[in-house]
Amino acid sequence: MSPQPDVIRGTSIAGTGRYVPERVMTNHDLAQIVETSDEWIVERTGIRQRHIAAPDQASSDLALIACQRALAMAGLEPGQVDHIVLATTTPDRILPSCACTLQQKLGATRAAAYDMFAACTGFVYGLGLARGLIGAGVADTVLVVGVETLSRIVDYTDRNTCVLFGDGAGAAVLRPAAPGEGLHAIDMHSDGELGEVLEVPSGISRNPATTATVAGREHFIRMQGKKLFPFAVRSMVESLSLCLERSGWAANDLDLFIPHQANLRIIDGVRERLALDPAKCVVNIDRYGNTSSASIPIALDEAVRAGRLQPGHKLGLAAFGGGATWGAATMTWTLPAPAAMREAEPAAAREVTT
Ligand code: ACO
Repeated sequence: MSPQPDVIRGTSIAGTGRYVPERVMTNHDLAQIVETSDEWIVERTGIRQRHIAAPDQASSDLALIACQRALAMAGLEPGQVDHIVLATTTPDRILPSCACTLQQKLGATRAAAYDMFAACTGFVYGLGLARGLIGAGVADTVLVVGVETLSRIVDYTDRNTCVLFGDGAGAAVLRPAAPGEGLHAIDMHSDGELGEVLEVPSGISRNPATTATVAGREHFIRMQGKKLFPFAVRSMVESLSLCLERSGWAANDLDLFIPHQANLRIIDGVRERLALDPAKCVVNIDRYGNTSSASIPIALDEAVRAGRLQPGHKLGLAAFGGGATWGAATMTWTLPAPAAMREAEPAAAREVTT
């Protein structure tokens, strides 16, 4: 069991935002590249399409728009942000951090900024960190953003992985709340024994880039999907169950459950084991694929703007990812859902040339 911080102040979400690149790659598009089919991908994963960043878009560009939208919803200026926690597996560069690049673009002049590598669990880890910072009085406004341009590390000759992943960003602004309001329980874990089940073998200190590593396609994601599947279901169920227990809630007390979107069959497995009403489970993997650290905040922002969350609602989140990492959170929603926020997909912020 993860130790819980000695929280003095409550922490709640004051705004959310998302951005996905305009370019859509359908299953039919992928079937032109590798030996696969729309039927196989839909049946085995639930994915129908994913969004792909334009050549001139890096992770910080996607994160910028999601963060601007989250801050606008919160009614805050970038200069009011104290910390930027950027969860990613695909930073713009190793140095400087993606968070610092975002900090400059956003104009968050007061903010400390750093990247967090917790793969698909990064947003949940970010919420845990934000609660610690705010609860302990270290920060008042924490921007947690999950962003990925996974298309840059996906091997489009490997049908086992290239059909799964997509690009996008989702952000949340965390602010102090009354004790007991907002975030309730957060549970976070890791197990490095499972590291090689999902990895990018080369490119940094273990195997620096050489012509041989590039020729061997070692800078792309490699995954043993079958090994991950049961672990994914088990870890999300156990972690969310622990949070529910700490909150004193049963699974069906939840008004909404947002699982990491890795595979529809994994989501269904978690939901069935929790005996959760399907109507309470957010699913958008059909439109975005697996966007790793961005998947939960993208789904959260969609739910908020669609009016699916109202003050007092009980929300559960659960994720697992490479590392391996996994975790969950429970919270009481505090943010009103004004009609003005109930929009369709936010208007595209830029033209895409591909
Ligand atoms: N199109 C057609 N056939 C394919 C494709 C494809 N895109 N991919 C694999 N196949 C083939 C395989 O080669 C295999 O053929 P074979 O039987 O002749 O060897 C067959 O389909 C079945 O492959 P399986 O691996 O058994 O398929 P499975 O039902 O397990 O589904 C999948 C594969 C979708 C990867 C599944 O195992 C999965 O979702 N695992 C979890 C993956 C995951 O969650 N990854 C991300 C976690 S961390 C993070 O989110 C960053």
